[in-house]
Amino acid sequence: MSYDVVVIGSGPGGYVCAIKAAQLGLKVAVVEKRATYGGTCLNIGCIPSKALLYASEMLAEAEHSFGQLGVVVGKPKADLVTMMAHKDATVASNVNGVAFLFKKNKIDGIRGTGRILGPGKVAVTADDGKVTEVEGKAIVIATGSDVAGIPGVKVDIDEKVIVSSTGALEFAKVPGSLVVVGGGVIGLELGSVWARLGSKVTVVEYLDTILGGMDGEVAKQAQRLLAKQGLAFHLGAKVTGVEKAKKGAKVTFESVKGGEAQTIEADAVLIATGRRAYTDKLGLAEAGVAVDERGRVKTDSHFRTNVDGIYAIGDAIAGPMLAHKAEDEGVAVAEILAGQAGHVNYDVIPSVVYTSPEIASVGKTEEELKKAGIEYKVGKFPFTANGRARAMLATDGFVKILADKKTDRVLGAHIVGRSAGELIQEASVLMEFGGSAEDLARTCHPHPTLSEAVKEAALAAFFKSIHI
Ligand code: NAI
Repeated sequence: MSYDVVVIGSGPGGYVCAIKAAQLGLKVAVVEKRATYGGTCLNIGCIPSKALLYASEMLAEAEHSFGQLGVVVGKPKADLVTMMAHKDATVASNVNGVAFLFKKNKIDGIRGTGRILGPGKVAVTADDGKVTEVEGKAIVIATGSDVAGIPGVKVDIDEKVIVSSTGALEFAKVPGSLVVVGGGVIGLELGSVWARLGSKVTVVEYLDTILGGMDGEVAKQAQRLLAKQGLAFHLGAKVTGVEKAKKGAKVTFESVKGGEAQTIEADAVLIATGRRAYTDKLGLAEAGVAVDERGRVKTDSHFRTNVDGIYAIGDAIAGPMLAHKAEDEGVAVAEILAGQAGHVNYDVIPSVVYTSPEIASVGKTEEELKKAGIEYKVGKFPFTANGRARAMLATDGFVKILADKKTDRVLGAHIVGRSAGELIQEASVLMEFGGSAEDLARTCHPHPTLSEAVKEAALAAFFKSIHI
Protein backbone atom coordinates (compact mmCIF):
# COMPACT_ATOMS: atom_id res chain seq x y z
CA MET A 1 0.00 0.00 0.00
CA SER A 2 1.13 3.55 -0.66
CA TYR A 3 0.34 6.59 1.49
CA ASP A 4 1.13 10.29 1.76
CA VAL A 5 2.18 9.80 5.38
CA VAL A 6 3.17 6.71 7.37
CA VAL A 7 3.27 7.45 11.11
CA ILE A 8 5.18 4.96 13.28
CA GLY A 9 3.64 4.91 16.77
CA SER A 10 0.13 5.82 17.91
CA GLY A 11 0.80 7.69 21.16
CA PRO A 12 -0.39 11.29 21.61
CA GLY A 13 2.23 12.48 19.10
CA GLY A 14 1.53 9.87 16.44
CA TYR A 15 -2.23 9.60 16.62
CA VAL A 16 -2.79 13.37 16.72
CA CYS A 17 -0.40 13.80 13.77
CA ALA A 18 -2.34 11.14 11.84
CA ILE A 19 -5.73 12.74 12.51
CA LYS A 20 -4.52 16.23 11.62
CA ALA A 21 -2.86 15.00 8.42
CA ALA A 22 -6.05 13.15 7.41
CA GLN A 23 -8.13 16.26 8.16
CA LEU A 24 -5.85 18.18 5.82
CA GLY A 25 -6.60 15.72 3.02
CA LEU A 26 -3.58 13.42 3.21
CA LYS A 27 -3.81 9.62 2.96
CA VAL A 28 -2.47 8.27 6.25
CA ALA A 29 -1.39 4.97 7.80
CA VAL A 30 -0.32 4.40 11.40
CA VAL A 31 1.94 1.50 12.35
CA GLU A 32 1.43 0.32 15.95
CA LYS A 33 2.93 -2.73 17.67
CA ARG A 34 0.72 -2.64 20.76
CA ALA A 35 -2.73 -4.31 20.63
CA THR A 36 -4.44 -0.97 21.28
CA TYR A 37 -3.75 2.59 20.12
CA GLY A 38 -2.69 5.46 22.36
CA GLY A 39 0.90 4.54 23.29
CA THR A 40 2.33 4.80 26.78
CA CYS A 41 0.11 7.75 27.72
CA LEU A 42 -3.26 6.10 27.19
CA ASN A 43 -2.29 2.48 27.96
CA ILE A 44 0.25 2.57 30.80
CA GLY A 45 0.92 6.23 31.62
CA CYS A 46 -1.04 9.45 31.98
CA ILE A 47 -4.53 8.03 31.71
CA PRO A 48 -4.41 4.97 34.02
CA SER A 49 -2.35 6.88 36.58
CA LYS A 50 -4.93 9.66 36.64
CA ALA A 51 -7.71 7.11 37.28
CA LEU A 52 -5.80 5.77 40.31
CA LEU A 53 -4.81 9.25 41.46
CA TYR A 54 -8.41 10.42 41.36
CA ALA A 55 -9.81 7.34 43.10
CA SER A 56 -7.18 7.41 45.86
CA GLU A 57 -7.66 11.17 46.28
CA MET A 58 -11.39 10.61 46.82
CA LEU A 59 -10.52 8.04 49.50
CA ALA A 60 -8.24 10.56 51.22
CA GLU A 61 -10.99 13.22 51.00
CA ALA A 62 -13.48 10.83 52.58
CA GLU A 63 -10.99 10.01 55.35
CA HIS A 64 -9.81 13.52 56.12
CA SER A 65 -12.34 16.10 54.92
CA PHE A 66 -15.85 14.61 55.01
CA GLY A 67 -16.16 14.91 58.81
CA GLN A 68 -15.32 18.62 58.76
CA LEU A 69 -17.78 19.16 55.90
CA GLY A 70 -20.52 17.47 57.93
CA VAL A 71 -20.72 14.48 55.65
CA VAL A 72 -21.03 11.35 57.75
CA VAL A 73 -20.09 8.04 56.17
CA GLY A 74 -18.83 4.77 57.61
CA LYS A 75 -15.06 4.29 57.80
CA PRO A 76 -14.02 4.51 54.15
CA LYS A 77 -11.76 1.79 52.78
CA ALA A 78 -10.14 1.00 49.47
CA ASP A 79 -11.53 -1.74 47.25
CA LEU A 80 -8.47 -2.27 45.07
CA VAL A 81 -10.21 -4.62 42.65
CA THR A 82 -12.91 -2.06 41.82
CA MET A 83 -10.35 0.73 41.67
CA MET A 84 -8.29 -1.25 39.13
CA ALA A 85 -11.48 -2.01 37.16
CA HIS A 86 -12.20 1.73 37.03
CA LYS A 87 -8.65 2.31 35.78
CA ASP A 88 -8.98 -0.42 33.11
CA ALA A 89 -12.37 0.90 31.96
CA THR A 90 -10.92 4.41 31.67
CA VAL A 91 -8.05 3.10 29.55
CA ALA A 92 -10.42 1.04 27.37
CA SER A 93 -12.71 3.95 26.60
CA ASN A 94 -9.75 6.17 25.68
CA VAL A 95 -7.95 3.67 23.45
CA ASN A 96 -11.24 2.74 21.78
CA GLY A 97 -11.82 6.45 21.25
CA VAL A 98 -8.61 6.66 19.21
CA ALA A 99 -9.66 3.62 17.13
CA PHE A 100 -12.99 5.36 16.46
CA LEU A 101 -11.23 8.59 15.42
CA PHE A 102 -8.99 6.61 13.02
CA LYS A 103 -12.07 5.10 11.39
CA LYS A 104 -13.83 8.45 11.24
CA ASN A 105 -10.81 10.03 9.51
CA LYS A 106 -10.21 7.03 7.21
CA ILE A 107 -6.77 6.33 8.69
CA ASP A 108 -5.41 2.80 8.14
CA GLY A 109 -4.04 1.19 11.30
CA ILE A 110 -1.35 -1.40 10.56
CA ARG A 111 -0.59 -3.75 13.45
CA GLY A 112 3.08 -4.67 13.92
CA THR A 113 6.57 -3.37 14.60
CA GLY A 114 7.77 -0.82 12.08
CA ARG A 115 11.32 -0.72 10.68
CA ILE A 116 12.45 2.02 8.34
CA LEU A 117 14.04 0.54 5.21
CA GLY A 118 14.96 3.93 3.76
CA PRO A 119 13.18 7.06 2.53
CA GLY A 120 9.55 6.21 1.80
CA LYS A 121 9.65 2.56 2.91
CA VAL A 122 8.62 0.91 6.18
CA ALA A 123 8.63 -2.84 6.86
CA VAL A 124 5.99 -3.94 9.38
CA THR A 125 6.49 -7.23 11.23
CA ALA A 126 3.26 -8.62 12.66
CA ASP A 127 3.10 -10.76 15.83
CA ASP A 128 3.06 -13.92 13.69
CA GLY A 129 6.31 -12.84 12.01
CA LYS A 130 4.71 -11.89 8.69
CA VAL A 131 6.38 -8.86 7.13
CA THR A 132 4.56 -6.37 4.90
CA GLU A 133 5.99 -3.32 3.22
CA VAL A 134 4.26 0.03 3.43
CA GLU A 135 5.19 3.02 1.30
CA GLY A 136 4.78 6.65 2.27
CA LYS A 137 5.92 9.92 0.74
CA ALA A 138 6.70 10.97 4.31
CA ILE A 139 7.52 8.88 7.36
CA VAL A 140 6.93 10.32 10.86
CA ILE A 141 8.78 8.66 13.74
CA ALA A 142 6.57 8.92 16.83
CA THR A 143 7.86 5.93 18.77
CA GLY A 144 7.93 7.65 22.17
CA SER A 145 10.02 6.62 25.15
CA ASP A 146 10.67 3.75 27.54
CA VAL A 147 11.84 3.37 31.14
CA ALA A 148 15.49 4.45 31.38
CA GLY A 149 16.41 2.56 34.56
CA ILE A 150 18.98 3.94 37.02
CA PRO A 151 22.05 5.33 35.27
CA GLY A 152 25.01 3.06 35.96
CA VAL A 153 23.06 0.59 38.12
CA LYS A 154 21.91 -2.83 36.93
CA VAL A 155 18.33 -3.38 38.08
CA ASP A 156 16.17 -6.37 37.29
CA ILE A 157 12.68 -4.87 36.92
CA ASP A 158 10.26 -7.80 37.30
CA GLU A 159 7.17 -5.50 37.44
CA LYS A 160 6.01 -7.34 40.59
CA VAL A 161 8.44 -6.42 43.38
CA ILE A 162 10.84 -4.13 41.55
CA VAL A 163 8.58 -2.15 39.27
CA SER A 164 8.59 0.66 36.75
CA SER A 165 5.56 2.93 36.38
CA THR A 166 3.92 0.05 34.46
CA GLY A 167 4.04 -2.38 37.41
CA ALA A 168 3.13 0.39 39.85
CA LEU A 169 -0.24 0.66 38.09
CA GLU A 170 -0.90 -3.05 38.62
CA PHE A 171 0.00 -4.04 42.20
CA ALA A 172 -2.39 -6.86 43.15
CA LYS A 173 -2.31 -5.72 46.76
CA VAL A 174 -1.17 -2.57 48.50
CA PRO A 175 2.53 -3.00 49.39
CA GLY A 176 3.09 -2.46 53.12
CA SER A 177 6.14 -0.38 52.27
CA LEU A 178 7.32 1.11 49.00
CA VAL A 179 10.65 2.75 48.17
CA VAL A 180 10.50 5.15 45.25
CA VAL A 181 13.81 5.76 43.50
CA GLY A 182 13.60 9.24 41.95
CA GLY A 183 11.67 12.22 43.28
CA GLY A 184 10.48 13.33 39.84
CA VAL A 185 6.98 13.40 38.40
CA ILE A 186 6.36 9.65 38.19
CA GLY A 187 7.79 8.95 41.64
CA LEU A 188 5.64 11.57 43.34
CA GLU A 189 2.41 10.79 41.47
CA LEU A 190 2.54 7.01 41.92
CA GLY A 191 4.12 7.35 45.37
CA SER A 192 1.07 9.47 46.33
CA VAL A 193 -1.35 6.84 45.04
CA TRP A 194 0.12 4.04 47.15
CA ALA A 195 0.68 6.25 50.21
CA ARG A 196 -3.04 7.14 50.17
CA LEU A 197 -3.92 3.48 49.85
CA GLY A 198 -1.85 2.67 52.95
CA SER A 199 1.76 2.08 51.86
CA LYS A 200 4.63 3.52 53.88
CA VAL A 201 6.37 5.41 51.05
CA THR A 202 10.01 6.55 51.11
CA VAL A 203 11.39 8.59 48.21
CA VAL A 204 15.15 8.50 47.56
CA GLU A 205 16.28 11.36 45.32
CA TYR A 206 19.74 12.23 44.00
CA LEU A 207 19.24 16.01 43.93
CA ASP A 208 18.82 18.24 47.00
CA THR A 209 15.26 18.91 45.91
CA ILE A 210 12.30 16.96 44.59
CA LEU A 211 10.98 17.96 41.15
CA GLY A 212 14.35 19.24 39.96
CA GLY A 213 13.90 21.94 37.34
CA MET A 214 10.64 23.23 38.85
CA ASP A 215 10.57 26.60 40.61
CA GLY A 216 12.50 26.10 43.87
CA GLU A 217 9.86 27.65 46.13
CA VAL A 218 7.16 25.49 44.54
CA ALA A 219 9.23 22.31 44.96
CA LYS A 220 9.87 23.12 48.65
CA GLN A 221 6.19 23.74 49.36
CA ALA A 222 5.24 20.56 47.48
CA GLN A 223 7.67 18.53 49.56
CA ARG A 224 6.30 19.98 52.80
CA LEU A 225 2.73 19.11 51.80
CA LEU A 226 3.65 15.60 50.63
CA ALA A 227 5.58 14.98 53.86
CA LYS A 228 2.43 15.97 55.79
CA GLN A 229 0.65 13.22 53.83
CA GLY A 230 3.18 10.68 55.12
CA LEU A 231 5.78 10.48 52.34
CA ALA A 232 9.33 10.31 53.70
CA PHE A 233 12.25 11.79 51.75
CA HIS A 234 15.98 11.12 51.50
CA LEU A 235 17.38 13.94 49.37
CA GLY A 236 20.94 14.26 48.08
CA ALA A 237 20.98 10.47 48.10
CA LYS A 238 22.32 8.41 45.24
CA VAL A 239 20.88 4.95 44.79
CA THR A 240 23.69 2.52 43.96
CA GLY A 241 21.88 -0.81 44.12
CA VAL A 242 18.40 -2.35 44.02
CA GLU A 243 18.03 -6.06 44.51
CA LYS A 244 15.46 -8.60 45.56
CA ALA A 245 15.57 -9.59 49.23
CA LYS A 246 13.96 -12.49 51.12
CA LYS A 247 10.84 -10.41 51.57
CA GLY A 248 10.53 -7.70 48.97
CA ALA A 249 13.62 -5.80 47.91
CA LYS A 250 16.60 -3.89 49.23
CA VAL A 251 17.71 -0.44 48.10
CA THR A 252 21.25 0.79 48.76
CA PHE A 253 22.04 4.48 48.63
CA GLU A 254 24.75 6.85 49.72
CA SER A 255 24.89 10.56 50.35
CA VAL A 256 25.97 12.47 47.25
CA LYS A 257 28.33 14.42 49.53
CA GLY A 258 29.97 11.15 50.59
CA GLY A 259 29.58 8.91 53.63
CA GLU A 260 28.51 5.40 54.49
CA ALA A 261 26.10 3.49 52.32
CA GLN A 262 22.64 2.88 53.82
CA THR A 263 20.04 0.28 52.92
CA ILE A 264 16.26 0.21 53.20
CA GLU A 265 14.15 -2.87 52.75
CA ALA A 266 10.64 -2.61 51.40
CA ASP A 267 7.88 -4.81 50.04
CA ALA A 268 8.26 -3.13 46.66
CA VAL A 269 10.51 -0.65 44.87
CA LEU A 270 9.44 1.76 42.13
CA ILE A 271 12.18 2.81 39.72
CA ALA A 272 11.27 6.32 38.54
CA THR A 273 14.58 7.74 37.38
CA GLY A 274 13.56 9.00 33.98
CA ARG A 275 12.77 7.74 30.50
CA ARG A 276 14.78 7.38 27.28
CA ALA A 277 13.81 7.84 23.65
CA TYR A 278 12.54 4.53 22.30
CA THR A 279 13.83 3.73 18.83
CA ASP A 280 14.66 0.02 19.26
CA LYS A 281 14.42 -2.11 16.10
CA LEU A 282 13.48 0.97 14.08
CA GLY A 283 16.41 0.54 11.70
CA LEU A 284 17.67 4.10 12.23
CA ALA A 285 21.36 3.25 11.80
CA GLU A 286 20.70 1.28 8.58
CA ALA A 287 18.53 4.08 7.21
CA GLY A 288 21.22 6.62 8.12
CA VAL A 289 18.98 8.63 10.50
CA ALA A 290 21.16 10.56 12.96
CA VAL A 291 20.59 10.41 16.73
CA ASP A 292 22.12 12.56 19.48
CA GLU A 293 24.30 11.43 22.42
CA ARG A 294 21.14 10.41 24.35
CA GLY A 295 19.73 8.32 21.53
CA ARG A 296 17.11 10.91 20.54
CA VAL A 297 16.39 11.38 16.85
CA LYS A 298 17.99 14.61 15.66
CA THR A 299 15.59 17.03 13.99
CA ASP A 300 15.64 20.59 12.70
CA SER A 301 13.03 23.21 13.62
CA HIS A 302 10.67 21.65 11.04
CA PHE A 303 10.92 18.15 12.59
CA ARG A 304 13.01 16.93 9.62
CA THR A 305 15.69 14.35 10.30
CA ASN A 306 18.87 14.34 8.22
CA VAL A 307 17.21 11.88 5.78
CA ASP A 308 14.82 13.35 3.23
CA GLY A 309 11.17 12.55 3.87
CA ILE A 310 11.75 11.22 7.40
CA TYR A 311 10.43 13.33 10.30
CA ALA A 312 10.31 12.77 14.08
CA ILE A 313 8.28 14.13 16.99
CA GLY A 314 7.47 13.62 20.68
CA ASP A 315 9.53 11.75 23.28
CA ALA A 316 11.72 10.29 20.51
CA ILE A 317 13.25 13.76 19.94
CA ALA A 318 14.67 16.44 22.26
CA GLY A 319 12.51 18.50 24.63
CA PRO A 320 10.23 17.80 27.59
CA MET A 321 8.74 14.30 27.59
CA LEU A 322 5.13 15.47 27.76
CA ALA A 323 2.09 14.18 25.88
CA HIS A 324 0.85 17.67 25.00
CA LYS A 325 4.26 18.69 23.62
CA ALA A 326 4.14 15.58 21.39
CA GLU A 327 0.55 16.39 20.32
CA ASP A 328 1.48 19.92 19.30
CA GLU A 329 4.47 18.64 17.36
CA GLY A 330 2.17 16.10 15.68
CA VAL A 331 -0.14 18.88 14.53
CA ALA A 332 2.79 21.03 13.37
CA VAL A 333 4.41 18.27 11.29
CA ALA A 334 1.05 17.36 9.70
CA GLU A 335 0.57 21.01 8.73
CA ILE A 336 4.09 21.19 7.31
CA LEU A 337 3.46 18.03 5.25
CA ALA A 338 0.24 19.59 3.95
CA GLY A 339 2.14 22.68 2.81
CA GLN A 340 1.14 24.87 5.75
CA ALA A 341 3.32 26.61 8.36
CA GLY A 342 3.33 24.32 11.40
CA HIS A 343 5.02 25.66 14.54
CA VAL A 344 5.36 24.89 18.26
CA ASN A 345 6.05 27.61 20.83
CA TYR A 346 8.41 25.86 23.24
CA ASP A 347 8.37 28.88 25.58
CA VAL A 348 4.78 28.15 26.56
CA ILE A 349 4.51 24.44 27.36
CA PRO A 350 2.72 23.97 30.67
CA SER A 351 3.55 21.07 32.96
CA VAL A 352 1.43 19.54 35.69
CA VAL A 353 2.20 17.11 38.51
CA TYR A 354 -1.04 15.42 39.54
CA THR A 355 -0.32 15.08 43.24
CA SER A 356 -2.68 16.49 45.82
CA PRO A 357 -2.59 19.40 45.69
CA GLU A 358 -1.57 19.64 42.05
CA ILE A 359 1.59 21.46 41.00
CA ALA A 360 1.54 23.33 37.70
CA SER A 361 3.94 25.57 35.92
CA VAL A 362 4.45 27.41 32.64
CA GLY A 363 7.30 29.55 31.39
CA LYS A 364 10.36 30.52 33.35
CA THR A 365 11.17 29.74 36.99
CA GLU A 366 12.79 32.31 39.30
CA GLU A 367 16.02 30.32 39.09
CA GLU A 368 16.00 30.48 35.27
CA LEU A 369 15.30 34.22 35.25
CA LYS A 370 18.14 34.88 37.73
CA LYS A 371 20.52 32.76 35.66
CA ALA A 372 19.56 34.63 32.48
CA GLY A 373 20.05 37.97 34.26
CA ILE A 374 16.47 39.07 33.56
CA GLU A 375 15.03 41.54 36.07
CA TYR A 376 11.61 40.40 37.24
CA LYS A 377 8.77 41.09 39.68
CA VAL A 378 7.04 38.44 41.77
CA GLY A 379 3.32 38.45 42.57
CA LYS A 380 2.14 35.80 45.04
CA PHE A 381 -1.21 34.91 46.52
CA PRO A 382 -1.99 32.07 48.96
CA PHE A 383 -5.13 29.92 48.69
CA THR A 384 -5.71 30.53 52.43
CA ALA A 385 -6.99 33.97 51.39
CA ASN A 386 -9.34 32.67 48.67
CA GLY A 387 -13.00 32.28 49.65
CA ARG A 388 -13.77 29.34 47.38
CA ALA A 389 -10.67 27.47 48.58
CA ARG A 390 -11.81 27.92 52.20
CA ALA A 391 -15.27 26.61 51.33
CA MET A 392 -13.67 23.55 49.74
CA LEU A 393 -11.11 22.97 52.52
CA ALA A 394 -8.49 23.43 49.80
CA THR A 395 -6.32 26.19 51.29
CA ASP A 396 -2.93 24.53 50.74
CA GLY A 397 -0.66 26.23 48.23
CA PHE A 398 -0.27 29.49 46.35
CA VAL A 399 -0.08 31.14 42.94
CA LYS A 400 3.08 32.88 41.85
CA ILE A 401 3.31 35.10 38.77
CA LEU A 402 6.67 36.26 37.46
CA ALA A 403 6.65 39.34 35.23
CA ASP A 404 9.36 41.36 33.49
CA LYS A 405 10.35 44.25 35.77
CA LYS A 406 10.28 46.86 32.99
CA THR A 407 7.56 45.69 30.60
CA ASP A 408 5.27 43.78 33.03
CA ARG A 409 5.07 40.94 30.46
CA VAL A 410 4.33 37.63 32.22
CA LEU A 411 7.35 35.32 31.95
CA GLY A 412 6.25 32.46 34.17
CA ALA A 413 3.43 31.18 36.37
CA HIS A 414 3.67 28.56 39.10
CA ILE A 415 0.80 27.14 41.10
CA VAL A 416 0.58 24.68 43.97
CA GLY A 417 -3.05 24.05 44.84
CA ARG A 418 -6.34 22.34 44.09
CA SER A 419 -6.96 22.24 40.31
CA ALA A 420 -3.60 23.92 39.59
CA GLY A 421 -3.48 21.92 36.34
CA GLU A 422 -6.62 23.70 35.11
CA LEU A 423 -5.77 27.11 36.58
CA ILE A 424 -2.37 27.29 34.88
CA GLN A 425 -4.03 27.49 31.49
CA GLU A 426 -5.12 31.11 31.81
CA ALA A 427 -1.47 32.03 32.29
CA SER A 428 -0.55 29.92 29.22
CA VAL A 429 -3.11 31.70 27.04
CA LEU A 430 -2.00 35.08 28.36
CA MET A 431 1.66 34.25 27.66
CA GLU A 432 0.85 32.93 24.18
CA PHE A 433 -0.52 36.39 23.41
CA GLY A 434 2.41 38.17 25.10
CA GLY A 435 0.15 39.54 27.86
CA SER A 436 1.18 41.46 30.97
CA ALA A 437 0.42 40.97 34.67
CA GLU A 438 -1.81 44.04 34.40
CA ASP A 439 -3.78 42.41 31.51
CA LEU A 440 -4.40 39.37 33.70
CA ALA A 441 -5.23 41.44 36.78
CA ARG A 442 -7.71 43.63 34.89
CA THR A 443 -9.51 40.65 33.36
CA CYS A 444 -12.77 40.11 35.25
CA HIS A 445 -12.67 36.76 37.07
CA PRO A 446 -15.82 35.00 38.29
CA HIS A 447 -16.44 35.04 42.03
CA PRO A 448 -16.10 32.85 43.97
CA THR A 449 -13.56 30.73 42.13
CA LEU A 450 -10.05 29.45 42.69
CA SER A 451 -9.08 31.45 39.59
CA GLU A 452 -9.37 34.63 41.64
CA ALA A 453 -6.10 33.58 43.30
CA VAL A 454 -4.45 33.79 39.86
CA LYS A 455 -5.90 37.26 39.35
CA GLU A 456 -4.72 38.33 42.82
CA ALA A 457 -1.18 37.06 42.15
CA ALA A 458 -1.19 39.05 38.90
CA LEU A 459 -2.47 42.10 40.83
CA ALA A 460 0.40 41.62 43.29
CA ALA A 461 2.93 41.47 40.44
CA PHE A 462 1.48 44.59 38.80
CA PHE A 463 0.63 46.63 41.91
CA LYS A 464 -1.02 45.18 45.03
CA SER A 465 -3.42 42.33 45.83
CA ILE A 466 -6.82 43.39 47.16
CA HIS A 467 -7.59 40.46 49.41
CA ILE A 468 -4.44 40.16 51.50
P1 NAI B 1 12.17 12.63 36.12
O1 NAI B 1 13.31 12.98 35.25
O2 NAI B 1 11.03 13.56 36.31
O3 NAI B 1 12.72 12.28 37.59
C1 NAI B 1 13.73 11.33 37.82
C2 NAI B 1 14.45 11.65 39.12
O4 NAI B 1 15.30 10.57 39.44
C3 NAI B 1 15.32 12.90 39.02
O5 NAI B 1 14.93 13.82 40.01
C4 NAI B 1 16.73 12.37 39.24
O6 NAI B 1 17.55 13.26 39.94
C5 NAI B 1 16.46 11.09 40.05
N1 NAI B 1 17.55 10.10 39.98
C6 NAI B 1 18.25 9.69 38.89
N2 NAI B 1 19.18 8.77 39.23
C7 NAI B 1 19.08 8.58 40.57
C8 NAI B 1 19.76 7.75 41.52
N3 NAI B 1 20.76 6.92 41.18
N4 NAI B 1 19.38 7.83 42.83
C9 NAI B 1 18.38 8.66 43.22
N5 NAI B 1 17.71 9.45 42.36
C10 NAI B 1 18.04 9.42 41.05
O7 NAI B 1 11.68 11.19 35.58
P2 NAI B 1 10.36 10.36 35.83
O8 NAI B 1 9.65 10.80 37.06
O9 NAI B 1 10.79 8.93 35.73
O10 NAI B 1 9.47 10.74 34.58
C11 NAI B 1 9.92 10.43 33.26
C12 NAI B 1 9.38 11.43 32.27
O11 NAI B 1 7.98 11.29 32.12
C13 NAI B 1 9.67 12.86 32.67
O12 NAI B 1 10.16 13.54 31.55
C14 NAI B 1 8.32 13.40 33.08
O13 NAI B 1 8.19 14.77 32.77
C15 NAI B 1 7.35 12.54 32.26
N6 NAI B 1 6.10 12.40 33.00
C16 NAI B 1 5.26 13.46 33.08
C17 NAI B 1 4.10 13.39 33.81
C18 NAI B 1 3.23 14.60 33.92
O14 NAI B 1 3.45 15.54 33.18
N7 NAI B 1 2.27 14.63 34.83
C19 NAI B 1 3.71 12.17 34.51
C20 NAI B 1 4.68 11.14 34.38
C21 NAI B 1 5.82 11.26 33.64
